[in-house]
Amino acid sequence: MDNRPIGIFDSGVGGLTVTSRVIKELPNEAIVYFGDTARVPYGSKSKETITKFAKQDIRFLLSRNVKAVVIACNTVSSNSLEELKSTFNIPIFGVVEPGAAQAAEITVNKNIGVIATEATIRSGAYEKEILKNDSNVNVYSKACPLFVPLAEEGWVNEEVTLLTANKYISDLTAKDIDTIVMGCTHYPLLKECIKKAVGPNVALVDPAYETALVLKEYLLKNNMARLKEKEPEHEFYVSDQTEMFGRICRQALGRNFASRVINIEEF
Ligand code: DGL
Repeated sequence: MDNRPIGIFDSGVGGLTVTSRVIKELPNEAIVYFGDTARVPYGSKSKETITKFAKQDIRFLLSRNVKAVVIACNTVSSNSLEELKSTFNIPIFGVVEPGAAQAAEITVNKNIGVIATEATIRSGAYEKEILKNDSNVNVYSKACPLFVPLAEEGWVNEEVTLLTANKYISDLTAKDIDTIVMGCTHYPLLKECIKKAVGPNVALVDPAYETALVLKEYLLKNNMARLKEKEPEHEFYVSDQTEMFGRICRQALGRNFASRVINIEEF
């Protein structure tokens, strides 16, 4: 038994979609969430900058005494996971491996689309992981850089978002995909528009589901789950105050949580 909280981080509000799954799967666990709202987006930055930011994010979470870290960010998971695992002596979970495994498992016609940030697509991590699971699959990738600002703006179901989704995703539907991976944790916030753009016959994969299950299995196996003596208290931190954070919190987690601003450059 380990009653310390679980640390979860992302560049902004996207990681709240993963937090929601973790809370559903592990309702006894306390969460410390950090959203790097001052430096979002990560997806247009270099691997070096992404890794440097992620190390600061993890050092902050460690200062809150977390027992494990979930990288609720595909951009960091696909560019920096190995380096972060070798830098920090704590269990660290990324979102790419679980999402890739699930996509490879559910595709029937073996044509999988991946939508993600530029840095995630550039890394080739999804393609590599999907092919590890099934070498007969075709993977078609598309960077969708406008999705993150739309999600951060809260424009989750606007006409402009649907138009943007149609424009990005038509390249992939032309390849007869039957499965699409939402390879950025911001994208499930735009799920309604993405669903409309891919049509009813394409399965949507949100890697958050599998990631939460992997984390749960690890905590149980290693006797690290929290004993429920009282309701867990979650903490939310951001690097810049944004009203939007509260609004998306309500949308992703079903209630508002107060967030505190920290100076991430100190870590
Ligand atoms: N939500 C993150 C991801 O999963 C990062 C988006 C961004 O900051 O560009 O990739």
